[in-house]
Parts: sequence; C-alpha cells; structure tokens
Amino acid sequence: MESITTPRVSIIMGSDSDLPVMQQAADVLREFDIPFELTIVSAHRTPQRMFDFAQNAHSRGIQVIIAGAGGAAHLPGMVASLTPLPVIGVPVKSSNSIDGWDSILSILQMPNGIPVATVALNAAKNAGLLAARILGSQQPEILEKMRNYQHELEQAVLKKAEKLEKDD
Ligand code: RP5
Repeated sequence: MESITTPRVSIIMGSDSDLPVMQQAADVLREFDIPFELTIVSAHRTPQRMFDFAQNAHSRGIQVIIAGAGGAAHLPGMVASLTPLPVIGVPVKSSNSIDGWDSILSILQMPNGIPVATVALNAAKNAGLLAARILGSQQPEILEKMRNYQHELEQAVLKKAEKLEKDD
C-alpha cells in the first residue's frame, strides 16, 4: 500500500546556492500539509541524474515538479521535455546571474509543445502555491486550505487599510 507520506511534489534546484530561495516553496507545501521531496539536480553538472529523475518522477507518484535554477537556467525546460508532469520553473537570481533576466528568459521562453509555468524572479513561494492549486483541483482538502489562505490574505490587507485610514 502507498505510504501517506509519499511525496506528491518534487522541488529540485540546480545548486545548493539556490536553496535560500527554493526553501520558500518547501515552507508553503509544509503549511498546506503536502508531502514533498527536495534535492539538487543540475542540468549541466549532473545531466544523467536529470534524465533519470525526470523520466521516473511520475512513476514514483510525483504529481508536480518545481524546478529552480539561475543564469543559464536550463533545468526546468529540460526536465519538462523529459516528463509528462506539470513543471513550475523558478528563475533564481544566482551567483552567476548578470541581472536575473538571464534566469527569467532561459526558463520563460520555451518552444511550443513543452510548457514550463514560470513564476517571477525568486518567487519560489508562488511556485509552492501554484503546486498546491494544481493538486487542489483534484483534492478538496487542499482546495479548502487554499480558500482559507486567500481569505487570510484578504483580511490582512483589509486590516492594514483600516489602520491606515484611522491614522490619516
Ligand atoms: C545554476 O547555476 C544553479 O541553478 C545556480 O543558480 C547557478 C550557480 O550555481 P553555483 O555555481 O552557485 O553552484 O546551474
């Protein structure tokens, strides 16, 4: 029988230097009680590992892949070309980035046929939230948590607006 802790989301990154950013995706998944795995898979330094990972992820029960990389950020696109799963790409402003645009464009400008859902620069938090929404479309308990999360966001803004209006 399948363990309840079987990871549903895989968070991969090109280097441990991406971890401070990618950790934010892990924090969100933890908040939503979504089991995940997190590791390093480098398109350039460990190409065989990338092939093995991407070709087997769906057979291991993974449903969404979050892939972060910076500079010549080929990991999300290459993984998307090797897996039938949805891939969310996180452009990281890394040690070898010129200004972050290199990471964004490497991940964003995919050719027709191989989609990567690209979030904003360093926006691993949104990648985690998007993964939760994808899973939530099939799992009512995750959907409900997402609705609560959105409600809390709304309340936080309304509270700030009220305070601002009072202070004026
Ligand atoms: C990319 O190169 C990684 O994703 C990272 O963003 C960047 C720099 O890697 P390190 O030289 O810091 O290991 O492949």
